[in-house]
Amino acid sequence: LKIQEYRPQPFTDFTLPENVQAYQAALRTVRAELVGRHYPLIIDGERVDTEGKLTSLNPCDTKEVVGTTAKATIQDAERALQGAWRAFEGWKKWDMDARARILLKASAILKRRRLEACALMSIEVGKNYAEADVEVAEAIDFLEYYARSAMKYAGFGSSETTWFEGEENGLMSLPIGVGVSISPWNFPCAIFLGMLAAPIVVGNCVIAKPAEDSGLIAGFVVDILLEAGLPAGVLQFLPGVGREVGEYLTTHARTRFITFTGSRAVGLHINEVAAKTQPGQRWIKKVILELGGKDGLIVDETADLDVAVTAAVQGAFGFNGQKCSAMSRLIVVDSVYDDVVNAFVERARALSVGTGEENANVTAVVNQMSFDKIKGYLEIAPREGTVLLGGQAPGEANGRAGYYVQPTIVGDVGREARLAQEEIFGPVVAVLRAKDWADALEIANSTQYGLTGGVCSRDRARLEQARHEFEAGNLYFNRKITGAIVGVQPFGGYNMSGTDSKAGGPDYLANFLQLKTVTERW
Ligand code: SER
Repeated sequence: LKIQEYRPQPFTDFTLPENVQAYQAALRTVRAELVGRHYPLIIDGERVDTEGKLTSLNPCDTKEVVGTTAKATIQDAERALQGAWRAFEGWKKWDMDARARILLKASAILKRRRLEACALMSIEVGKNYAEADVEVAEAIDFLEYYARSAMKYAGFGSSETTWFEGEENGLMSLPIGVGVSISPWNFPCAIFLGMLAAPIVVGNCVIAKPAEDSGLIAGFVVDILLEAGLPAGVLQFLPGVGREVGEYLTTHARTRFITFTGSRAVGLHINEVAAKTQPGQRWIKKVILELGGKDGLIVDETADLDVAVTAAVQGAFGFNGQKCSAMSRLIVVDSVYDDVVNAFVERARALSVGTGEENANVTAVVNQMSFDKIKGYLEIAPREGTVLLGGQAPGEANGRAGYYVQPTIVGDVGREARLAQEEIFGPVVAVLRAKDWADALEIANSTQYGLTGGVCSRDRARLEQARHEFEAGNLYFNRKITGAIVGVQPFGGYNMSGTDSKAGGPDYLANFLQLKTVTERW
């Protein structure tokens, strides 16, 4: 396979009017051609419809139905699983480069349809232009990066062994079988695609269960993979309800691996049920989890104020704080607390609230459940600190009804408060006052999570201390703590944030491989 070295996709510059116009044209195309569609299940390459349906609403304008998908039953899940095992018999024998070529072809198609994918996400989950654009860039990056990574696992002797006289020894990397990929709505294109492309490229088959809130973009991505030539059965598309089909597949004796990105509660439940051996089960299931975060950014007295405030605003309010990497705790050293917090509040006050299609800075949160949960935190906010900005969830913006929550900043939150400990997954930031640097680092580490974190400081010794002691899978200095780039910042967390399997990292594909040592005496 002849390909150039991996390079991440550049982002689009939306300060250029022609790029804004192209995006708006794509919104019109998507409204004309994709909105209102229905996506059936795909089992063994056949489109299969179901009696039940899942309806996807526009969170920024809840009167609008974006489209529907089928709703898989347990019987559908069983058929998908059996079909995937049949497909595995063929797929595992494909040459690695032939499998990688399908990812590269899919990448080429997605590059051509980049704006449509973006526009569909603006409508289905409320992403603004830049958030949608970096996500589709990430999706393309996953395809390009995993296609190349797969090469190192090809063939006999793909991993190093030591020479031993009189023998030939080699280590082969073999696919493990059929797994289920349960993906989130917050990166419905990139994470959905990454979580299935990785196991597939190294020879596994996957049942993909997209999030209930983002079935259309999932259907769009699946169509691209099929157009790229993915054989029937390798990818089974199974929109459905997590508690039903997700539960059925995670507990099933014939499921070999589970890859899940979502909440800690669901992830721990999956881990528990997957660990229970079922009658007839022939392996120990692999579970790869990417869970939540309560990610903190420390600002000390040596920090550049503008750098710190920019990092805080971008990290907290990008896609409304609906990222596991979002900055939900701002930890400021006492001597600069007032200056930093005042500047942060003023910058956040200027953020526009509206729809993804209008390219607002902050849009509506994804669904009613999320909206209600965030409202619950807004109710306790005045008791846990001082509400410095926002604090309301009006449920409408610019005359449209949707799940709108004001960008909210709560000052002087105690380190044990619920606002400082629990993942809110919305545009709500807890600001914590630290006595000094040492106290700030202690506060940063005082959660069960350990996904992302950051330090804004000009003190080299402190940055070096944080490099070793700040408990986070992705640690950033003097910049925002979101937006990891595939291959550049391998992504995944410590502690309750996940199994630290780095998506977009050099060893990620090894999660879906088993090693076999073969020795021949000469
Ligand atoms: N990878 C994303 C980020 O870094 C979160 O999933 O923001």
